[in-house]
Amino acid sequence: MIKKIGVVGAGTMGHGIAEVAAISGFRVSVVDISWDFLNRAKERILDSLKKLYEKKSLLEKPEEILNRMEFSTSYEIMRDADFVIEAVPELIELKKNVFKTLDEITPRHTILASNTSSIPISIIAESTKRPEKVIGMHFFNPPPIMKLVEIVPSKYTSEEVVNITIDLAKKMGKVPVRLKVEVPGFVSNRIFLRLMQEACREVEDGEATIEEVDSTARNKLKLPMGIFELSDYVGLDVAVDLWKVIISSGTAEDVKCSLFQKKVDAKELGVKSGKGFYTYPAAGKYKKV
Ligand code: 3HC
Repeated sequence: MIKKIGVVGAGTMGHGIAEVAAISGFRVSVVDISWDFLNRAKERILDSLKKLYEKKSLLEKPEEILNRMEFSTSYEIMRDADFVIEAVPELIELKKNVFKTLDEITPRHTILASNTSSIPISIIAESTKRPEKVIGMHFFNPPPIMKLVEIVPSKYTSEEVVNITIDLAKKMGKVPVRLKVEVPGFVSNRIFLRLMQEACREVEDGEATIEEVDSTARNKLKLPMGIFELSDYVGLDVAVDLWKVIISSGTAEDVKCSLFQKKVDAKELGVKSGKGFYTYPAAGKYKKV
């Protein structure tokens, strides 16, 4: 019986996942390393809740939902969590340390999930003494809007834990897709990689402009955003990282193309830095292209 959900990391994904959990009626504890991050997360959650409330998508007032949430820089608030979702940056050593700490601090029944988009769950699981209770639960940005959640068991994950996680995703109003094989990038980011590779090649070979490729993605593929626009939205550093992780695993062929890497080298990371392939009103402020 899950009553309290812990979320580690209050960034782009973490704050959104925490918000969805609270909207779904769970008590939620959010941990991050600084109060700057936590206060920013609270503001973003309140903004999003207000938007959803105005659209009559919520049964409760934003303040009532926020009242179910607690924030801290200490893992102590995870002591009574039944299910924890980690959403810290995609660095293997960092994730392993977070899971080691969670393993020490949470009760034995607690399921530990990672929102990783590319790191193998079995490697994360091996940093705990409960690998059968470790699972991937991969949300998409923005979590309050995007329905898909990839459920990624490792070779250690028990069937019971898989079923509880699928059930939780449904209770959070999501559409779970369970992976059959643990493969880097899972289902969605492998498709996203192919889109980025081809979009990048077409522009670098001078076949079409960034705007033309994006217009094609929107008007032919019917994607809600163009491929470069989506990459800006996800963060170009994140996009390049997942590109590298999938390629270095040897499970997909690479396409030589440097547009994305050049942007990252220039610290133009997309929406989060205010400039990527497109320019945005301010750092972190998304505007439709
Ligand atoms: N909370 C509440 N409401 C939100 C919101 C949020 N966080 N983000 C957007 N909205 C609302 C807006 O307020 C707006 O409401 P309105 O229609 O009443 O005005 C509505 O959603 C649409 O937003 P916009 O008008 O700003 O722009 P769009 O119509 O382009 O929609 C979008 C924005 C929902 C983000 C849409 O473009 C979209 O679905 N894009 C694709 C996103 C996607 O593919 N995400 C996955 C990325 S990959 C990933 O995350 C995995 C990782 O591992 C890389």
